[in-house]
Amino acid sequence: MQDAAPKTIFLKDYTPFGWIIDDVHLTFRLHPSATRVISRIRFRPNPDATDRSFFLHGEALKPISAKVDGHEVALRHVDGGIEADVPDAPFNWEAEVEINPEANTALEGLYMSGGMYCTQCEAEGFRKITWYPDRPDVMAQFTVRIESDADHTPVMLSNGNGLYYHQDGTQTPAPNVSIYEDPWPKPAYLFALVAGDLVAHEDTFTTMSGRDVDLAIYVRPGDEHKCAFGMEALKKSMKWDEDVYGREYDLDEFNIVAVDDFNMGAMENKGLNIFNSSCVLASPETSTDGNFERIEAIIAHEYFHNWTGNRITCRDWFQLCLKEGLTVFRDAQFTADMRSEPVKRIDDVLALRARQFPEDQGPLSHPVRPESFQEINNFYTATVYEKGAEVIGMLKTLVGDAAYAKALDLYFDRHDGQACTIEDWIQVFEDSTDRDLSQFKLWYSQSGTPKVTVREDYRDNTFTLHLSQSSAPTPGQSEKLPQVIPVAVGLLNDNGDEVMPTKVLELTEAEQSFSFEGHATRPVPSILRGFSAPVTLEQGIDTARRSFLLSHDTDPFNRWEAGRMLARDSLLTSIRKDAAPNADYLEGLKTVLRDDTLDPAYRALMLAQPSQSELAGVLHQAGDIPDPAAIHAASEAMRDAKAQSWADILPGLYAANQVDGPYAPDAEGAGKRDLANSALGLLTRLDGGATAAKQYAKADNMTLQLAALSALLDAEAGDDALAAFYEQWRDDRLVIDKWFSLQVMHAKPDALAETTQRLTNHIDFDWKNPNRFRAVMGMLAAHHAGFHHESGAAYELLTDWLIKLDPVNPQTTARMCSAFQTWKRYDADRQSLIATQLGRIAGQPDLSRDTSEMITRIQGA
Ligand code: PHE
Ligand code: ZN
Repeated sequence: MQDAAPKTIFLKDYTPFGWIIDDVHLTFRLHPSATRVISRIRFRPNPDATDRSFFLHGEALKPISAKVDGHEVALRHVDGGIEADVPDAPFNWEAEVEINPEANTALEGLYMSGGMYCTQCEAEGFRKITWYPDRPDVMAQFTVRIESDADHTPVMLSNGNGLYYHQDGTQTPAPNVSIYEDPWPKPAYLFALVAGDLVAHEDTFTTMSGRDVDLAIYVRPGDEHKCAFGMEALKKSMKWDEDVYGREYDLDEFNIVAVDDFNMGAMENKGLNIFNSSCVLASPETSTDGNFERIEAIIAHEYFHNWTGNRITCRDWFQLCLKEGLTVFRDAQFTADMRSEPVKRIDDVLALRARQFPEDQGPLSHPVRPESFQEINNFYTATVYEKGAEVIGMLKTLVGDAAYAKALDLYFDRHDGQACTIEDWIQVFEDSTDRDLSQFKLWYSQSGTPKVTVREDYRDNTFTLHLSQSSAPTPGQSEKLPQVIPVAVGLLNDNGDEVMPTKVLELTEAEQSFSFEGHATRPVPSILRGFSAPVTLEQGIDTARRSFLLSHDTDPFNRWEAGRMLARDSLLTSIRKDAAPNADYLEGLKTVLRDDTLDPAYRALMLAQPSQSELAGVLHQAGDIPDPAAIHAASEAMRDAKAQSWADILPGLYAANQVDGPYAPDAEGAGKRDLANSALGLLTRLDGGATAAKQYAKADNMTLQLAALSALLDAEAGDDALAAFYEQWRDDRLVIDKWFSLQVMHAKPDALAETTQRLTNHIDFDWKNPNRFRAVMGMLAAHHAGFHHESGAAYELLTDWLIKLDPVNPQTTARMCSAFQTWKRYDADRQSLIATQLGRIAGQPDLSRDTSEMITRIQGA
């Protein structure tokens, strides 16, 4: 139920709940359209609270009964829940409600996916299951009893340890009953229940203290062969968290369940992680190297939440980055350890620039810790997650590795079992390092991407860097204070030797100078090594300097960055002046590509170029109005120029990076395939698809098959392969998502809307499934030149579908509205086309709170 005027919630209004819950007993009588939920909860007054009024959240619940200490109690149905008169003393609450999982298309609360029951409670979904104080600072022990018709639901799971046997050795009450007990107090958002006809891929893990944990990945029959990789990733994660953070798992079992209908990637429910099937199921034939890497990272991420999120949780949803920023940071460390550290860092910076910078530089900009929201689901953003992780990386850089480790030990010691704030987190670092971090805290409250400008000076053997920082106004924040920016710098001499190894400069003022003495010749600085802060850098350096760094920088990130900036500048010149790509850059890069001492994965990253939307963002930041057609033309011209000027090395590069033997998703093989496939993309511009056709014909894994198909589509020689691909994979949902995406991605800009429209008529376009919807509509929005085609047809098509999806699934609709967040970058005609579409969405009579908040913020640009 929704009120007319959306309510805004403020961080400053936080007050503790008036009651403490010791334990919760839930009974579920499962039925697809009429599940009964019986709750028995012990409440006692919270001595730390002043307000003892009794309000429980509840949404879309059919009341059956409610009792206080055994007596039926009158409920007052208020906005978002119920109130009741209760004693000012401990009491027992007992209630029964009915819910309809089958009708739950929003995929929050208890819903059905592919015939199974599953739940999603973060952030505020538990209130759709029963009446409860659905807020993360209320932590309680849960016991859950699930009853069902055994024919349909042989597997029934919840959080904690399953009580399959009684002490006398007899089985749990009946074959169609399951009981779970979670000894660890938790907030309701970590509750989970799964029931259905599932099969388990099982294993065990022995923890550092010698306890055996039963592990299982539950999937629908037919998906059993896609679990092995996820299981290995889970065991590696468990071991890594013991080795690196000293964190041991704390239950007798750990279960993962794959579901097809899921709004996000995965969810860290205590002991029962629920995954979007795309983020856990993998096999060489159906998954790409990219899929494997992502799955490994997400399994780690959810597992790591057991300590950073579950054992220590958030006091309120404004503190979301407390668990998400830290857990993203931890999963990035894990991936760097499992694979290549520089490659992971570059990948993360690419993702930050592609997703977080546009957010931070547009109407949706918000601090890492927001101060208000209407719908919390709209704040699971790149800013909270990825910038949140960057902030932790900066903190670690500033205090050093040893102090970081010490602070984390203190964090776990001091706050285990608590619901915490960013203040608690910062305090731990202040107490363990004696540093004053008050200025650093601005990273949590100031939105926007700071800009760091560099000037250099050399005299009397002294080299000086003059750094200044500034930050453009963002929604609600017109004036900014200087932040603490760690700028990692190294100095090279003319031969490319390092004359000063990496040193971290702490930029804390608006303008600050740093001098380096004793340099008999003028050194060349390498600035912001490893991307030591999430800022944009204005260096005012020329092409010669960048080429020098591309050949010589000893910091792998900055070496890559030098090439990236050369590519960017060349593209910008082409866009602005219709000039040919920079030939010196292409020659310089050729040397790098030929250098077999460099990791193939790293060389593949070198070979790539900035995306069209990244270029549009850079142009906008520079005060230009981006022209999507010109950006597209320049990007294509750059690829053609690469193909032409590297014609002599591409076949060799392709051949040298073929991987012999059976497919394995390891970093080394993946790097080679990535480089070979990148070379294939360019080669196709020379041979019209001959090499790609051969690769397609003999591919025995999805990485090679998909890259070949993609190259063929580029060469407009892919129709047969596309049809064959569909026939081969029509029964595999995750591969068919790829089949849809690929066609949207490869549409010509002026045919994008039509192609997409045609795909929405395909029998397999199951638009209520978020993965399928995103495979098509997400790609439509990501196709820069096509989405922003001057006709406006793609804007309109996306809008039609957002309007259609909103009543069914507000969360996924609202997230996808961000396709329009960059609209003010473009010319007046495009702005007015988009304004019309935003107006159409805003004008829908029963728009969800999620979508209405997003559209209002975007319109406010
Ligand atoms: N907490 C999940 C994660 O980051 C993401 C999520 C949020 C999933 C909300 C579902 C709903 O791991
Ligand atoms: Zn997370």
